[in-house]
Parts: sequence; structure tokens; C-alpha cells
Amino acid sequence: MEIRLQKYLADCKIASRRKCEEYIQSGLVKVNGKLVKELGTKVDPQKDIVLFENKKVTQEKFLYLILHKPKDYISTKDDPEKRKTVFDIIPKEYAHLNPVGRLDRNTTGLLLFTNDGELTQDLMHPKKKVGKVYRVEIDKPIKEKDVMAFSKGVMLEDKMTLPANIEVITRDFLHLDVEIFEGRNRQVRKMFEMLGYDVVKLKRLSIGILSLGKLKLGMSRLLTVPEIERLKKWLKK
Ligand code: URA
Repeated sequence: MEIRLQKYLADCKIASRRKCEEYIQSGLVKVNGKLVKELGTKVDPQKDIVLFENKKVTQEKFLYLILHKPKDYISTKDDPEKRKTVFDIIPKEYAHLNPVGRLDRNTTGLLLFTNDGELTQDLMHPKKKVGKVYRVEIDKPIKEKDVMAFSKGVMLEDKMTLPANIEVITRDFLHLDVEIFEGRNRQVRKMFEMLGYDVVKLKRLSIGILSLGKLKLGMSRLLTVPEIERLKKWLKK
């Protein structure tokens, strides 16, 4: 499919579309060996060879993989202590992707991997306030006043957390769904600890509109094109 040269250059992360127009007009771009200064020029990324400052321009292929992380795996690439990492359980061909944020070793659930830096930034940026829902099991029934505390925010290391959404999901008051809008280190565990509870189990169910769905423990899959488009659209809202 043919697209405008400036769009292709922008897609290849050379610069913004506007800036790429300037580059074209100032003679920095060649298509199939020929200098092109015409803004209307169209290219076929599959066939045409585009050079910017005499270097071949390529479009990186972005991939998005979700994993249902089991316990006992850490969320980094390399571990000096040689513990098991999430890269031991995703297919080898996705080893170049990066996890978006982390889950503690003993936390299970949704972990997203991608090489799309812009999407990663959008998901992690504090201003975006992307909600992450965790299913939590605690060691004793939660008290009403502590449910209220969660919905106001909890003081952690001299700084209040943002208000969290909290829903008690079992009659024994031991299982809850908690939605937080930041990514502070071990945040959910620490919030419960501050209020005098121990977290027995912690599982991330969703990140924004992305959820674990029926993905089995230890399994991973690529997101589909419609899922990626929906996620990007939602982030731009
Ligand atoms: N909060 C935690 O305490 N642990 C996680 O892994 C994620 C959020």
C-alpha cells in the first residue's frame, strides 16, 4: 500500500510529520536513489527504498505480547542471582521485547511486553493515570474503615497514594479487587501492610482496557491488531 513519504518517514520515527516535510523540501530524502523534494510523493514501504541523509530508513515492527505470569518468576531480563525470569517462559523470538512495568516475584497475572516505546510511556506516565486492577487475598477480613482508607489514599513513605477503587468480592471479606492508578514499588502490598494486613495472594487482572481474559497461567499470546488499535485509541482519549 502506498503512503505519503512524510508519513512513512514519521512512521519510521525519523521525526514528526511536519519536520519530515521540511527534511524532504531541504533535499535530505531520496527514493530509489533519486532525490525527492516533492511533498505529494507516495511510496510503497514494501518495495521502495527510502534514504534519509543517505541512510536506509526502516520501519520497526512493533509487537505486543501478554503473559499470565506465574509465581516465582522475576520481571527482569537478567538476574545476577540466576533466579527464573519471565523471559524463561515467553517464546524466544520475543526476547527483544521489554516488560511494561513489573510484577513482584510472588505476584501473578497480566504482564505486557512490547518494543513500542511510545505506548510504554503512555501506559506508565503518571499523568495518564492508567488503572491497574489486582485481585487480592488478605490474611484477615477487611474492616469497613480500611475500605474507606483505600478509597481516600494511603500514606506510603511520606506520600499519599492516589485514591484507589476497592471492591470486596467475597462474603468472608478476604478477597478484594483493588484498582490503583500509579505504579509505585510493591504498592498494593504496602498499602495493605500500612493498614495492618498481609497480602496472601496477589494477581493483576488488567491494565487499562487490557485484561488477562482466559489466558492460562504461564501462557502468553500476541495482541491482535484490533486489540492494539483499541488500546492506542483508549490511551489517546
Ligand atoms: N503491587 C504490588 O505490591 N506488587 C506488584 O507486583 C504489583 C503491584
